[in-house]
Amino acid sequence: MDLKKLHADFNQLEKKEISIIARVRSNRQGKVVSFMVVNDGTHLNDLQIVYKTDVDGFEDAIQSRVSSIVEVSGILIITPGKPQPFELQASKIVLLDQAIEEYPLQKKEHSPEFLREIAHLRARTKTYNAVFRIRSSLSFAIHKFFQENDFVYVQTPIITSNDAEGAGEAFTVTTRNDDKYEQDFFGKKASLTVSGQLNAESYAQAFKNVYTFGPTFRAENSFTSRHASEFWMMEPEQAFSDLNGSIELIESMLKSVINYVFEKNLDELKFLDENQEEGLINKLQGIRNSEFSIMTYEEALKVLQKAIRDGHDFEEKDIKFGIDLGTEHERYICETHNKKPTFVINYPKDIKAFYMKLNSDNKTVAAVDLLVPGIGELIGGSQREDDYDKLMKRVKELGMSEEEISWYTDLRKFGYFKSSGFGLGFERLIMYVTGMSNIRDVIAFPRTPKNLLF
Ligand code: 4AD
Ligand code: MG
Repeated sequence: MDLKKLHADFNQLEKKEISIIARVRSNRQGKVVSFMVVNDGTHLNDLQIVYKTDVDGFEDAIQSRVSSIVEVSGILIITPGKPQPFELQASKIVLLDQAIEEYPLQKKEHSPEFLREIAHLRARTKTYNAVFRIRSSLSFAIHKFFQENDFVYVQTPIITSNDAEGAGEAFTVTTRNDDKYEQDFFGKKASLTVSGQLNAESYAQAFKNVYTFGPTFRAENSFTSRHASEFWMMEPEQAFSDLNGSIELIESMLKSVINYVFEKNLDELKFLDENQEEGLINKLQGIRNSEFSIMTYEEALKVLQKAIRDGHDFEEKDIKFGIDLGTEHERYICETHNKKPTFVINYPKDIKAFYMKLNSDNKTVAAVDLLVPGIGELIGGSQREDDYDKLMKRVKELGMSEEEISWYTDLRKFGYFKSSGFGLGFERLIMYVTGMSNIRDVIAFPRTPKNLLF
């Protein structure tokens, strides 16, 4: 039987004979009675086994070390008043595979840094078990939300010849030892995708509402707790929609996926609330029930300038039109000032990507970032420039290859009326929902600068 089923049906299983194969988490011997805690991985909460130390049939049990695999048979007893709702009174315990004594995850607290060095084992701890179960649910919840809203899922390519964001952060894909890309595998320079957006936009023109959700790669040399070199991004794109359409979609998507996690992972949320981020459940409840704030970039600057006048100390104090908001600024706006997720819209065109729609002021673009407490930027999006000439002007200004990008710019020639979309950093969403404070702890095997283990 699975532990999951035991936890779901323990009332009906009272006094019944149960058998389970599981891993030993701890094994504590008393003179007469001994306690073994096991888990088979199907449920966050463990199963406590009680066995008699001095009775024949438990020779295996006595020598089972932490992390060994056992098959336990016994009777399920309901235990009101104890921390665990039930336990198994064992009649037989068979040691299926013994673990060596030097198992790195003994029963004590380990630092996240240490656990990153044993990322192949850390998912067995309660915290990482909760995190990765929620990661799985969130991924499904995203698909569920978009599928139920009739968005078509497009798998955009991972190997590409475009640098969608134009930030020069793409990893090169090559089979050569020199940089003669004309002679390379694809006959030109190829790289790993930094965003599927441009491809998704072309599909939005065929299906109206689409999304792409897959691995994304950025060779950013930033050693922050929110940047990974390989991460997952979910990017919806809606034809005939403007920036407000994206803002509404973001809010309803986030509420929907958080609702799903409450439905599916309440045990995990409770565990993380107690052990990871105090108030996590309250915070997420708040998201389900409240409206997000919205302000323009220029309003955000005023808030920051006032904060400085009031004595708040930022590392970057030169707050003026044209600066890119740093994490400290983003967090001040959503955590201290608004105390809730905040949309910041209409950023200066010079700090944003070439494809964003120029506003009538000719200096800002119809961009949106969603800033959330504890994280900063969770989502970045925009309405796309639909005017061919204005788009080409940006392509030229930025020195991009007109030929290479022509398939994308040409979309504007074949009937194109508004298009808007955004990118959600999937790991940042997981951080927000689980309370984990480092992106390396929400990716099974994280890739960051100077770090490629496993
Ligand atoms: O803001 P970004 O760069 O936007 C785009 O890539 C657009 N093409 C999206 C679109 O409009 N379709 O990235 C989107 C999100 C960020 O808000 C952030 O959450 C996440 O992706 N992100 C990263 N997450 C982890 N590690 C990194 N290095 C990230 N870079 C961006
Ligand atoms: Mg961004």
